[in-house]
Amino acid sequence: MSTDGDRITVPRFVAQKASGPKITMVTAYDHTTAGLVDAAGVEGILVGDSLGMVVQGHPTTLPVTLDQMIYHAEMVGRAARRALVVVDLPFPLGHLGVPEAVRAAGRVLKETRCQAVKVEGGADQADVICALVRAGIPVMAHCGLRPQNVHQLGGYRVQRDRETLLADAKEVERAGAFSVVLECIAADLAAEVTASLAIPTIGIGAGAGCDGQVLVFHDLVGLTSGRTPRHVKVYADLKETIVGAVTRFRDEVRAGVFPGPDQTFR
Ligand code: KIV
Repeated sequence: MSTDGDRITVPRFVAQKASGPKITMVTAYDHTTAGLVDAAGVEGILVGDSLGMVVQGHPTTLPVTLDQMIYHAEMVGRAARRALVVVDLPFPLGHLGVPEAVRAAGRVLKETRCQAVKVEGGADQADVICALVRAGIPVMAHCGLRPQNVHQLGGYRVQRDRETLLADAKEVERAGAFSVVLECIAADLAAEVTASLAIPTIGIGAGAGCDGQVLVFHDLVGLTSGRTPRHVKVYADLKETIVGAVTRFRDEVRAGVFPGPDQTFR
């Protein structure tokens, strides 16, 4: 059995809330991207159901299936050497009852080499989180804006209900979640939630007061199609780089420049 001393385990991830530095997570959905993100030295890789939007081209995350999550997570799990890999339980698995959730999360851990699941929900998911943790499955919770509830919420809106957010965060911690994503929450409220918990909060659109930050890979490197959300910082313009490279290839083939002598066998 190999033991990798550099691996970010769940306890190491949690301990970083107290020891610092801030925790970083990025999404990945395939082997190549996961290898790059892992090499960059982030603590966590999230195989998010956002793949329904950024990879599959759907307007929401709702169509994503468990089999699809496992397909992507297996590729990511094989690539990650250091980062903790967390896999989203897709809609509506958390709401089909405890046995269904344990069966699904169990499949994720058995079939993908990933180490944890993410469950969208707060107090309403406490029984599911508790059962998963009892089964030995680490759970990251997800409070605030819950994209799986988009139709009920009427859109992707900043969440400001202080009492609900504080109660949800406390409940998921009590249920045994090792961390919680806070999505699209006013910054002062996210900081208050963070201060009230012993487990790390990972923010996305929740200000700088969280214990860590997560971004969707495609947003971070400028591959998002359409409008970039306000909370995103774009660190590279890969869209321009890729379109430019493919355009040069097309032009060189048309001009008879590619393949040249260096790319030709004799
Ligand atoms: O699915 C996802 O990528 C997520 C992040 C936005 C946190 O849940």
